Amino acid sequence: MDNENLQLLICPACGGDLIDSAVYYSCCRCSSIYPVRGGIARFSSGATHDNFAIQWKKFADVQLDSKNGTTCSRDRLLDQSEMLPEEFKGKNVLEVGCGAGRFTEVLLSFGAKVISVDYSAAVEVCAEFNQSFRRKGQLFNTQADVFSLPFKKRSFDIVVGLGMLQHTGNAKKALQCLWEYVRPGGVLLVDRYQISLRSAHILKYCIRPFSRLFSPLATLKMAEVVCAFSIPVQHFLLSRFQGQGFKKYFRFIINRSLNSTFPLNLEIEGKLDADTAYRWSVLDTFDMWAPKYDEPAAFSVWKKDLFNLPDGYVVVCKGCGQGNAGVIKRKA
Ligand SMILES: C[S@@+](CC[C@H](N)C(=O)[O-])C[C@H]1O[C@@H](n2cnc3c(N)ncnc32)[C@H](O)[C@@H]1O
Ligand SMILES: [Zn+2]
Repeated sequence: MDNENLQLLICPACGGDLIDSAVYYSCCRCSSIYPVRGGIARFSSGATHDNFAIQWKKFADVQLDSKNGTTCSRDRLLDQSEMLPEEFKGKNVLEVGCGAGRFTEVLLSFGAKVISVDYSAAVEVCAEFNQSFRRKGQLFNTQADVFSLPFKKRSFDIVVGLGMLQHTGNAKKALQCLWEYVRPGGVLLVDRYQISLRSAHILKYCIRPFSRLFSPLATLKMAEVVCAFSIPVQHFLLSRFQGQGFKKYFRFIINRSLNSTFPLNLEIEGKLDADTAYRWSVLDTFDMWAPKYDEPAAFSVWKKDLFNLPDGYVVVCKGCGQGNAGVIKRKA
């Protein structure tokens, strides 16, 4: 690891400095040992979220702009942050809950220096896809928990937590933890699923008590079967009911199916090929059914949580495709 990153790294147990011995990190103060496997420092076991490791290993490339030919991740990052690509250039970014790294590769392409973290072994996928940036020292990956991150507080220009708060088991606390790592003058970019009539996905919350009874691999199998049967019908109906008026409401209902239809709409718009749309739908369906935690928030709760972050001022607080988005700046 380069010196700049090592200086940011501390023992998550006691805050002591860490010594890099190439195969593990050891704490100077409490003697804790953190292994390095596959070139990645491991500060969490990943056990609570093994569904995400399965998900991102199986569908590694599906949501990466560089692989699927869309600009979905880039557009989402820019839309939610209301920032320009050049505002990321040369910035020290901490990204938590990176998954396969759909936003990591965008941040890297903007010229940011990124530390990407995930609780699960999904971080290996992110590392694998971005080997060239790791070699250049522009990307550093660790496996760690948002509630116990191995970094010095208030050290990052930009902290990113996209698609992850609702899956941590305590979204409000996770938000507050991320905030701790933003330096004075820096920003936090976050989002969280929304509870609202527009975004209501009743079937998803009906199936979760049952899907939780099964192993992640069994849930994945069920998601594959449901998608195989329903996608041809959904695709047929969605493509016939394009346009305004009652068709819009019809699409709204189909888009609240048991499985995810978001990628089918991208396919109908000509943005995705059929095979990627199918795999994306299975991925999103598994993502809806399998997580241990899924804790959406009403917009009013989201707003309150953002405005209550100490020493911050809210730059963006809005609904977005994913639910609620926020950008908070720490006073200099
Ligand atoms: C739905 S995925 C989102 C991945 C990526 N940010 C994206 O939007 O595609 C949520 C990710 O958050 C991670 N996660 C959940 N709880 C976490 C925690 N306590 N600390 C760090 N990451 C966590 C999961 O392992 C998973 O990869
Ligand atoms: Zn220690």
